[in-house]
Order: sequence, then structure tokens, then C-alpha cells
Amino acid sequence: MRMVRLFGAALVAAVVGAGLSAAHAAGDPAKGAKVYRKCKACHELTKEKNKVGPHLVKIVNRPAARVEGFKYSKALKDAAANGLVWTEENLDKWLENPKKFIKGNRMAFAGLKKKADRENLIAYLREEGGVWEE
Ligand code: HEC
Repeated sequence: MRMVRLFGAALVAAVVGAGLSAAHAAGDPAKGAKVYRKCKACHELTKEKNKVGPHLVKIVNRPAARVEGFKYSKALKDAAANGLVWTEENLDKWLENPKKFIKGNRMAFAGLKKKADRENLIAYLREEGGVWEE
């Protein structure tokens, strides 16, 4: 009887855990702050001010190519017209290899090959820059 109850609890924990990881990248924002140094020259995260790239305030869940006054490439505008939203999943793919994710985009960045770097960075973007709500 006891065994059965323990097994049940473990199952519930596993299901809840899986649900959480789907909604949230399991990254460490403190480590992500260091990864963000690679983005800093081109992107503001806490001020709505554009540099070489558009600002990234509330970038998590923000629709693509949404910053007014920024001259996006045709490639990114087309992706936005097709409904691209920067969910954590799409950010992960973009940051791994921007050229592959959207051909012809103008972001001069090779990509972050390590999954852990991307997870930590996305956790930092979420914590420091906020989440889009609309
Ligand atoms: C050399 C400058 C540069 C670097 C470095 C850079 N970016 Fe970008 N980024 C850009 C430019 C330019 C664009 C717009 C691309 C386009 O219009 O095709 C962009 C676009 C983006 C977008 C899409 C924004 C939107 O409004 O749709 C995201 C998200 C993004 N960058 C995140 C990052 C992150 C995170 C890093 C660090 C890992 C990074 N970028 C590094 C220049 C850069």
C-alpha cells in the first residue's frame, strides 16, 4: 500500500515538473547576465531605445518586428507577417543559429551553440526585460 502511494506521488511530481519546464526555460538568470554581454553592444534590454538592433524590453512572447522606428529587414518583417512570436522556444532556435532560423535577416551574430547558455540567457531576458502581455 505504502509503495503504491509513493509511486503515485512521484508520478504527480514528474507530471507537474514537465508542465513547468514546457512553460519556462529552466535557466539561471545570473549566469544568463554574463551571456547577455554578447548582445549588449547591439541591444538595450531595460530601456526602449534602439541601437544597431531593436530594444528587447519584454521580448519574451513579444511578436516579432514590433518595435516602432526600427528598420527591420524584409526577412524579419515577413516572418512577423507570418505570425512569428518570440516565445522561449522560438528564441532558443533563433539564438542557436539566427541565419538558419530566418534566412536573410540582418542580425550579425553567429549563434550560441550551448543549450545551457541559451537557457540561462532566456531566463535573464525574462527576468530583466520582462514578458510581453497583450
Ligand atoms: C551585431 C549586432 C547584434 C548582436 C551582437 C545581437 N543582435 Fe539581435 N538583432 C540585431 C539586429 C540588427 C536585429 C534586427 C534583424 C533584422 O531586422 O533582420 C536583431 C534582432 C533581434 C531579435 C528580434 C527582435 C524583434 O523585435 O523581432 C532578437 C530577439 C534578438 N535580436 C536578440 C539578440 C540576443 C539575445 C543577442 C545576444 C545573444 C543578440 N540579439 C545579438 C543585432 C544584433
